[in-house]
Amino acid sequence: MNLPHNMGWKRRQVYDPVVATLVAGFFNELLDDESRHYTEEIMTRAKALALVREFVKNEGLVRHMLSVEAAMRFYAEKFGEDMEKWGLVGLLHDFDWEIHPTLEQHPQDGAPILRERGVPEEIIQDILSHADHLNMPRDTVVRKAICACDEITGLITAVALVRPSRSLYDLKAPSVKKKWKDKAFAAGTSRVEMEHASQEFGIELWEHVGNVIVAMRRIAPELGLAGNVPQP
Ligand SMILES: [Fe+2]
Ligand SMILES: [Fe+2]
Repeated sequence: MNLPHNMGWKRRQVYDPVVATLVAGFFNELLDDESRHYTEEIMTRAKALALVREFVKNEGLVRHMLSVEAAMRFYAEKFGEDMEKWGLVGLLHDFDWEIHPTLEQHPQDGAPILRERGVPEEIIQDILSHADHLNMPRDTVVRKAICACDEITGLITAVALVRPSRSLYDLKAPSVKKKWKDKAFAAGTSRVEMEHASQEFGIELWEHVGNVIVAMRRIAPELGLAGNVPQP
């Protein structure tokens, strides 16, 4: 298509990559480290959520990742760690489950996609560490956290949904404890693994359950778990 002369000029001005790189480089020289990090930011929460929505059509799976993200942000705040980074580990950890629904592929085959989309390698490695079969060392607190927060959110969701209120707002740890003893309830979640993960994380199991409920409560409407009781 023929563009009017002046429009073509504008296009050249906007898209000239050589000029853009030179200008960006010049201004970066003037910035301190923190500002440079900000200008070069390659993965934001909004981009990560868009990536999740691109690859995941099942709303239940999206909600699972939002739940784990909420729990990770809660603990990052509690420990004075990087809430954005911890949140991204939670939000993206199962992004490839729909396209890679077996442990032959998940999450390892998702890693190149994350790399391609500009997710920092450190976050990718932490995401990979949530898979037992990859035998990666869980030697940092963020890795212990993702492991401890993953499955427990599923059990908490299941308990909230069978209560009359169908809400996180009036759910407390003892209600989860009651269902914990009922082995037939949410039988797909492994009590042994959840208990072990909580121990490794260094938080007493029922305190951990209470914390994750508080974390998930912050986004209860998004999780479809506000139910029929008012927000406290
Ligand atoms: Fe996973
Ligand atoms: Fe998960």
